[in-house]
Amino acid sequence: MPMNIIYREAEPSDAGKFLEYCKIVGSETDNLTFGAEGLPLTISQEADFIRKFAGNPGSIMIVAFDEGELIGTGAVSVVSGKTRFAHRREIAISVRKDYWGKGIGTGIMNVLMDFAKKSGAEVLELEVRSDNEAAISLYKKFGFEKIGTNEKFFKINGEFCAADYMNLYL
Ligand SMILES: CC(C)(COP(=O)(O)OP(=O)(O)OC[C@H]1O[C@@H](n2cnc3c(N)ncnc32)[C@H](O)[C@@H]1OP(=O)(O)O)[C@@H](O)C(=O)NCCC(=O)NCCS
Repeated sequence: MPMNIIYREAEPSDAGKFLEYCKIVGSETDNLTFGAEGLPLTISQEADFIRKFAGNPGSIMIVAFDEGELIGTGAVSVVSGKTRFAHRREIAISVRKDYWGKGIGTGIMNVLMDFAKKSGAEVLELEVRSDNEAAISLYKKFGFEKIGTNEKFFKINGEFCAADYMNLYL
């Protein structure tokens, strides 16, 4: 598959494509916080969300495009506005199934890590299903370590799924 991947910060005008993307990726994996229904937001609400991300110096939303098609996303977000949490950031990432295993996740993580370091983050945090080997290998490659497990993190179709908490100390 020929690829010409562009990684850039999300813009409010990406909102429609972003919501469509979430429905696709949500239908392709049970590793995210949503399924095929996607996010419960209108295009204008999503555009506002992207605007808020862009306006916060501690957060960034990244989109990866191949020939105009949204194929991956990632975000660094502040844990809350509280001063005593200001050293911490959360990481989230996803890639469309057709593109798994082609280095896109690594490309997105590189952009997120550069931003997190430059923006003064000291602790990066994430939650990942304990059986999500691909994501856990990706995070370990970037230095994340497991700090604990929540055995009942997700409940999907009546079944509990465990998730690991992973941190990276910058
Ligand atoms: C996890 C995910 C983001 C990885 O993205 P990707 O583009 O496939 O990742 P890459 O091709 O850059 O691979 C990165 C690393 O992941 C690991 N990896 C990738 N596919 C793997 C697999 N099938 N099994 C085990 N490890 C795998 C490898 O360590 C790889 O690094 P290497 O190639 O240097 O050895 C992607 O699979 C995805 O979006 N999955 C569904 C959503 C999800 O799970 N998001 C994370 C929620 S916490």
